[in-house]
Order: sequence, then C-alpha cells, then structure tokens
Amino acid sequence: MHLHRYEKIWLMLGAGGLALFIVLLCVNAFAMGMAPPSNMEMIDPEKVMETPPFDKPGLKQVGDKEYDAYMTAFAFGFSPTKMEVPAGSTINFHVTSPDVVHGFQIPETNINFMVLPGHISSATHTFDKPGEYLILCNEYCGAGHQVMATTIIVK
Ligand code: CUA
Repeated sequence: MHLHRYEKIWLMLGAGGLALFIVLLCVNAFAMGMAPPSNMEMIDPEKVMETPPFDKPGLKQVGDKEYDAYMTAFAFGFSPTKMEVPAGSTINFHVTSPDVVHGFQIPETNINFMVLPGHISSATHTFDKPGEYLILCNEYCGAGHQVMATTIIVK
C-alpha cells in the first residue's frame, strides 16, 4: 500500500517536471521568435528562384574588397556552387531557401545560421587567410543532407 502511494507521488512529480520542461521549452522558443538570430527580410519561398537577386545567385562587388553574396540553400545544395574572392575580402552573405530549413555554416569562421524558407538570413565575414572554405548545411534536411555543401576560394 505504501509503495503504491509513493509510486503515485513520484509519477506525479515526474509528470509535473515534464510539463514544466515543455512549458519552459515553448516559452524559450517563442521568446526567440523561432527565427535565426540574424537580421531578416522576407521573401516568397515559392518564388525564390525567380526573385532577383536570387534568380541569379552569386557575388556582387559592392566596394573595395567587399562583396554581397546572394545565395540559395535548397535540397540538396547551395547556389552558386563556387565563389572566389581575393584574400582580405569581406563577404555579406544573404541566404534564403525555396523549400525546407537548412543550415549555413563555414567552419573556422563565426558564420553559422539557419536558413528558413520565406526569410533572408544575413551575416558578414572577412576572409583574411587564403584557402578553400567549406560551406556546410548543419540542419538535417533530408536524404541528401550530408552532401549539401559548397566552397569559397580565398586567394
Ligand atoms: Cu540542407 Cu541539411
């Protein structure tokens, strides 16, 4: 009899703890706005491929060693597939997705954000060191997730 009562109490404590955890999780998620922490603009995800400048993804020189990179992240790849800039260049990335949520990470830099359909995520990095930089999707997006990558060549 005693055992049953303790079991009930522990069950209730367990359920209560779980409920509290879920509530906190939701509050956190909504406080964050369920959105990437980067500055965002909106875009119609159905029309990404025909909306300038995302209809022709690529680099646009906007200053001395400064570029805007308009990119799309899609299942399963990035466009453009290859970019090249001189060492010391600053790239302002503007990335959107026509389909599902993707990740955008460049190892060895502080670039790491989510790409949501309907949003344009932006981030900036200055590439001082020459080399080949990998851009990876770090958000599981389906069967081809592992092969979703592209490169930036800094020379
Ligand atoms: Cu795109 Cu994982």
